[in-house]
Amino acid sequence: MTFEKNILCIGAGYVGGPTMAMIAHKCPHYRVTVVDVNPERIAAWNSAQLPIFEPGLDAVVGKVRGRNLFFSTDIEAGIRDNDIIFVSVNTPTKSFGLGAGMTADLQYWEKTARQILAFSHSPKIVIEKSTLPVKTALAMERILNCREDGICFDVLSNPEFLAEGSALSDLEEPDRILIGSRETDRGLRARATLADIYANWVPRERIITSNIWSSELSKLVSNAFLAQRISSINAISALCEKAEADITEVARAVGMDSRIGPKFLNASVGFGGSCFKKDILNLVYLCRHYGLDEVAAYWESVVTINRFQQERFIETMLGAMFNTLAGKKICLWGFAFKANTGDTRESPAIFIARRLLEEQAELVVSDPKALLNARADLAGVDGSVRYVEDATLAAEGCHAVALLTEWDCYRHLDFERIFGSMVQPAFLFDGRNILDHGRLYEMGFNVYPVGKPPLVHF
Ligand SMILES: NC(=O)c1ccc[n+]([C@@H]2O[C@H](COP(=O)([O-])OP(=O)(O)OC[C@H]3O[C@@H](n4cnc5c(N)ncnc54)[C@H](O)[C@@H]3O)[C@@H](O)[C@H]2O)c1
Repeated sequence: MTFEKNILCIGAGYVGGPTMAMIAHKCPHYRVTVVDVNPERIAAWNSAQLPIFEPGLDAVVGKVRGRNLFFSTDIEAGIRDNDIIFVSVNTPTKSFGLGAGMTADLQYWEKTARQILAFSHSPKIVIEKSTLPVKTALAMERILNCREDGICFDVLSNPEFLAEGSALSDLEEPDRILIGSRETDRGLRARATLADIYANWVPRERIITSNIWSSELSKLVSNAFLAQRISSINAISALCEKAEADITEVARAVGMDSRIGPKFLNASVGFGGSCFKKDILNLVYLCRHYGLDEVAAYWESVVTINRFQQERFIETMLGAMFNTLAGKKICLWGFAFKANTGDTRESPAIFIARRLLEEQAELVVSDPKALLNARADLAGVDGSVRYVEDATLAAEGCHAVALLTEWDCYRHLDFERIFGSMVQPAFLFDGRNILDHGRLYEMGFNVYPVGKPPLVHF
């Protein structure tokens, strides 16, 4: 069978896998191949146990894999045989040298560019899907356009805005698709080719275009704004706890202003995930690089407040539990950085677990999807940690439960039974404000929400 277009994605991670599955699903007339350097990841994509959990992903992959979606480790053949190449490799925070702890580590990205250069026998459109510092496309162009045989490459920026946990619906009905290109004839033609791919299922008015630097920057700014909202409401939650106000009531009143809107106003233990902190620090680094120290300091405070919120959570636990956690059993409900994913990268649970272990608490970690990753995150950390998938069993014999991920299943537990199985007085710290605090208090729990007065039995 011949396909209208042959599309490659380099990087089979949380973005590459679901994004390409959606293109293959919506465009049966295109052949889509996803390659990765990690053979285990590719083997998992080709098996019944996909390497990542996303609601609805199994069904979509099941439909298209082997039909027009293929996973492979043959990067050379992938580059040779495809004309449109998405690059979705990881761009973590650099951990060494200049910019360590701040800027993006671009080694995977550059390696990919050099592979594209080496293995191409025909012109290609190369699409930045990874999140990158502004002006990365310039470096990409300089690497790619140094061929002597006249083969040309067009570099586009097409940042991905999906959110883990709702990736499939975000991909199916995106708020917008952003495509940045050079504003030359070639650049505009490449831009139109990519827009046509998305137009198979996304309404044209949602496919927006811009110059390439605006596109690169928009992704960093988008994540910075989202994280800023979380830090803003979390900062106010600290004030609510001092002033006997209730953060849910404040958020409702504030969010009903149509200029502000109600979303992303839930106080919590803070944001996690592989992107928010990394992308803000990247933005901060860029601002400093351009001498904009005040702008850098403004955005850096979003990360500072996030860590403050997590430390505050520990202080609340310590204060409530008579200033000692040593030898006490604490159950963590949730380890994933948010609900509906098994991803634990930068999860607040990692920081909180480590801090509780420093206090010599004994931990029981529970999560419906993230226990494998939790084990890896806490491997080698001193202290006692058990892993129990069932939330009710996990809480048995514990002095306290700390709810850290807003999994829906935690709303529907048999709390009477849980209360009866715990050491008394039993403490419940709701780090996501999703439980019915009044009811739990009536059952006998001492309840500590975020940004609200605690409900304590004396
Ligand atoms: N995870 C998200 O929710 C999300 C959302 C939007 C954007 N992003 C951005 O997308 C990019 C990818 O994120 P992710 O979460 O999918 O990362 P990931 O770590 O899950 O996946 C990246 C994959 O790239 C592979 N890889 C690295 N170098 C390679 C090479 N030279 N050749 C082939 N494969 C290579 C890795 O083995 C890995 O499987 C990042 O820049 C991230 O900031 C992520």
